[in-house]
Amino acid sequence: MVNFETRIGDLRYKFPVSNASGVWCTREDELIEIAKSGAGAVVFKSMTLEPRQGNPEPRFFAGPNFSINSMGLPNLGVDYYCDVVGKMQHYRKPLVASIAGFSAEDFEELCRKVDKYPFHGIEVNLSCPNLVGKGIFAYDIPHALSIVRTLRGTTNKTLGVKLPPYNERAQVQQMAEGLLEAGIEFVTTMNSVPIGLDIDIESETKVIRPNGGMGGLGGPEILHSALGQVRLFYELTEGKIGIIGVGGVKSAEDVYKFILAGASSIQVGTVLAKRGPALFSEIKRDLTTLLNQKGVNDLQDKIGSVQAL
Ligand code: DHB
Repeated sequence: MVNFETRIGDLRYKFPVSNASGVWCTREDELIEIAKSGAGAVVFKSMTLEPRQGNPEPRFFAGPNFSINSMGLPNLGVDYYCDVVGKMQHYRKPLVASIAGFSAEDFEELCRKVDKYPFHGIEVNLSCPNLVGKGIFAYDIPHALSIVRTLRGTTNKTLGVKLPPYNERAQVQQMAEGLLEAGIEFVTTMNSVPIGLDIDIESETKVIRPNGGMGGLGGPEILHSALGQVRLFYELTEGKIGIIGVGGVKSAEDVYKFILAGASSIQVGTVLAKRGPALFSEIKRDLTTLLNQKGVNDLQDKIGSVQAL
């Protein structure tokens, strides 16, 4: 018997693999499907203060090994999700709110609201790549850190931030140091890679409509960027902050790579959109086989344990 339990603050995972925010988690029925599946936690769609329709369609495209999206934060609004979370406690899985503001004030108000409801944790989305005419909060590191410090003063719940891909080690270092100082419990890394494009060569058109036809790139094509970013955060924070690894996961082997790199929990986006929530039990079955072959009894022992060559 393998013990799959891991923990980040109050997020106690019996199995540390869940959906990534945005996938299979916008409506109550989808959230309940994830809760009933083999997933070890339920992450909610990024919620805004008011409901939003999002960008015009087509806004999501799935290729063989990647996806491109420019959803534009379609969601039913914070009040809806605060109501739904009250009905989901009996599933006994971590329920994680994802909050998305358009200003520091929005983030604070969202945080104050969700703090009053029985979410087990809050993932602050500082990395949405799809808001027409707006930048990505987490690329302005001092501003992003000032938002995080304010939110830390607003809630005692397990608090983390979802980050975009960074291209420079210095950026990761500045973020890691600031987050350690702010005293939050986790980082979720990484969000989709901004400004992805695919072209249909028959019609010679772009594959999605909004934002000039370019959007967040996800799926197996970004796995190795995500793994690198997880590892760099782990090394720079010396394991003092929980890491949720996300980006390109398609299999139990990929989950195990994220564990070795330093993640305590793993999220699946593009491949979940493609295969549906039955995926979680398949990953659990395959991870059990893999860990048995390797003689690993306790997954937690392997977090961050990758060796240098
Ligand atoms: C959306 C996309 C993201 O990658 C994200 O982090 C939040 C929202 C979206 O377009 O809805």
